[in-house]
This record gives sequence, structure tokens and C-alpha cells, in this order.
Amino acid sequence: MDHFQYRDGQLYCENLSVAALAEKFGTPLYIYSQATIVGVLKSLQTAFAELNPLVCYSVKANSNLSILKVMQEAGSGFDVVSGGELYRVQKSGGQPGRTVFAGVGKTDEEIAAGLNAGVLMFNVESEAELDAIVRVAKNLGKVAPVALRVNPDVDPKTHRYISTGKKESKFGMDIDRSLALGQAIVGNPNVSMIGVHMHIGSQITTTEPYAGAAGKAVTLIAQFREMGHPISWFNMGGGFGINYRGNEAKAIEEFAKVIVPVIKPTGCHIAMEPGRVIAGNSGILVSRVLYTKQSGEKRFLIQDAAMNDLIRPALYESFHRIWPVSVPKGFPAPPADYEAEIEGTQHWDVVGPVCESGDFLAKDRSLPALDRGDLIAVFSAGAYGMVMSSNYNTRPRAAEILVDGDTARLARRRETYEDLVEQELAAIGAPGALG
Ligand code: LLP
Repeated sequence: MDHFQYRDGQLYCENLSVAALAEKFGTPLYIYSQATIVGVLKSLQTAFAELNPLVCYSVKANSNLSILKVMQEAGSGFDVVSGGELYRVQKSGGQPGRTVFAGVGKTDEEIAAGLNAGVLMFNVESEAELDAIVRVAKNLGKVAPVALRVNPDVDPKTHRYISTGKKESKFGMDIDRSLALGQAIVGNPNVSMIGVHMHIGSQITTTEPYAGAAGKAVTLIAQFREMGHPISWFNMGGGFGINYRGNEAKAIEEFAKVIVPVIKPTGCHIAMEPGRVIAGNSGILVSRVLYTKQSGEKRFLIQDAAMNDLIRPALYESFHRIWPVSVPKGFPAPPADYEAEIEGTQHWDVVGPVCESGDFLAKDRSLPALDRGDLIAVFSAGAYGMVMSSNYNTRPRAAEILVDGDTARLARRRETYEDLVEQELAAIGAPGALG
């Protein structure tokens, strides 16, 4: 359960009023609930306890240092896909020895940084990348721990942009190639193959794709072991889906039920790289209505969050629940069933100030009548929200707040115009050189 609840028609994050936070910190504003983040982590650790799991929180979902710190204090490891994310993990006190280094295009510098930091293992995406890892490890006089990322060729039944485990994906390698590569590195002194990695996609709401992938992993683990590789890890990647609308995603326990019995006989530890399931429903984006406008039959709610703050609706046509922070009299808390027509609502396109027709947070959405100054909450925005934000239209990025019980901490201050031009001023000389 997340910790964003309505009390007497007012939205709260844990014990704090969202309206009061918006008043204090301004809008657009990302608000995260620490109890939700830690709660999901605990649910994962419990559901997979039989496999001695290492949860490697996928930093890409939300890489704010305060969140990484909360995660590492709660016992999480990390999944990073760049030198930058590894740097963040180290800055927040995370342990490289509990960090897996993934990513389809690691540079030599990033590989060296991973080796020097002592990451748990590299997820290897191609033969050429393994060559690079071996070469860099040799130069540094090290042995690189690796897991081959294998495409089990299962259909995760998710949006095409976030499906990765099919044969034609740019990620990983198919089973035959992984076996050939496994054979080729037998006895190589600079690499130790300790795991098998699979990640089949993101926002997966059913258990079947995982069952299929886990079954293939078991066979592969046995084959690699026969070659002499000391495989002790199965990294099942991330991908657990969340409820954006209502009840569409299977619970964590349901995923565990199909995965644990299949992997248990291998004796492997399980590593996993969940991002969305941890951060997604732990965060909301709060914005303030600027104007309402009618064009023909269409009603527009123009508010101060835009595609630069949350690009998911524009990029994936993804659905985020939206509801007023203070529910007008006579209306319920946000309805679980969004397809239902709620009495008294009107249809709105919820749009931002950016100069693009693609700048919308929702289309044709049933909402109570709202007016200038009203606050709305965009739910399930904690994952792939702030991390995918930009400064398009020279819009300063939103502030981020982390709530813990009845305290709120600024996790990232709102950007200023000065922040936005700083690098450019530095490039052309001393500040003020334009004049
Ligand atoms: N591991 C690997 C190798 C990945 O590629 C990803 C996500 C994850 C773990 C974490 O997956 P999660 O548990 O969060 O599903 N921007 C998109 C999602 C892109 C996911 C990319 N890879 C969105 O907003 O839906």
C-alpha cells in the first residue's frame, strides 16, 4: 500500500498535507513517501526470502541521492547503467560490492570505474563488450566478475518501447550465443562468470513471462556450470509492474510464487533489479492550475507541470491517475475505476505550458471542475518521472521532497534560471560576459 491517502477530502503524504507542502515548496513539486519506498523493498525481501535475495534497486527509476540513501540504509543493493549512476551510489553511501553494473554501451572508463570500485558483477550484453571488460581487467590486473545477459525470447506483453527480452531486442544475447561465449571464456584468467542475467522488460503485469524466463535460466545455469563456470547468482532483472489505473498488476508475492520454486533447486542466490515497483507509487507530482480554456467541445486544464517534468504520457501515452489535492464537495477520493463516469465530472485535457501539442499529462480525463489556483496530484510519478525530466523551454526542473512520517526534507531544490545558464556562461567567459 502506498502512503498517499485522502483524509476529509484532503490529500496527505504520510502525515503531511500535500496542499501545505505545495504552499511551502511551490509547484510543480515531486513528493516521495519514504515509508512506501521502504515498505516495497521489505515486501520484495520477504517474498523472495527463500532465495536469499539481493535487491539491487534500479537507480535509473529515481536516482535522487536522498532516495538512494534511504534504500541503502534499508539494506538495498543497486543496479547501475552508467558511470554517473555508480558515482551517485557511491555518493549516497551505497556499497559497490552490492551493486551490479548493467548497460548496453559501457565505455572503457566506466568499466575501469566499476572494476576499481569493486562492483558485484557486470551484466554483459555482447561478445564485444566482454572483450572490452577482459582487456580493461587485464590492464588493471583484475578479475572481472560477470553475468551474461541472456534474452530468453519471451514476450513480456508490455509497451513496445520497454520490452527487452525478445530475440530482436538490442539488449543481451540469445541463448545459443551466450553458450558459445561461455565456452570461449573457459579458463580466461581475467574474467569469472558467476551469474546469469535476464531482464525481459518493464511494467510487466502478469507472472507468465517470468515463469518462462526462469525455466530457461535453470537449464542455462546447468549448462554453464558443466563448462566449469562457478555460477552462484541468477539475476532476474527488474520489470514488476505497478497499478497506474487501479488493480492491473499482480502483487509481488504472486511473482515470487512462480519464480522461487523454479530457481530454488539451482542453489543460486537471486539478484533482482526492480525500479518502478519501488519508486513508482512512492511518488506524486503536484501542480497548480494556471488557466482553464475551452476550444470547441474541448476543455483544457492548463497547469504548471509539463512534458519536461513528466514525459511518460507524451512518450508512451501512459496513463497516470490525476485528482484534485483538495477534493471539491460532493466528490469522492480518486475513483479506483477510471473507466467509470463519475457524476458531476467534466472531460478535460490536462496540459502544460510547453509549446508542443504532445505536452499533455492526460487526455479526455473525467475531473471535477477546477479553477485557477487549484492543486492537482499526478499519481504513480515516482519512477521515470524526475529522472527523465529536462529543461525544455528553459523551464527550471521541479523541486523534490522526501516525506518521512511528519517531516519533509528537501531532496532537490528547485532550479533557478541561473542554474540553467551557468554552464553556458562558463563556456563564453566570466559570468556577465554577454553584456
Ligand atoms: N534492469 C534492466 C536491465 C533494465 O533495463 C531496467 C529498466 C530495469 C532493470 C528496471 O526495470 P523496472 O523494474 O523499473 O521495470 N522509462 C520507461 C521505463 C524504462 C525501463 C528501462 N529499463 C517508463 O517510464 O516506463
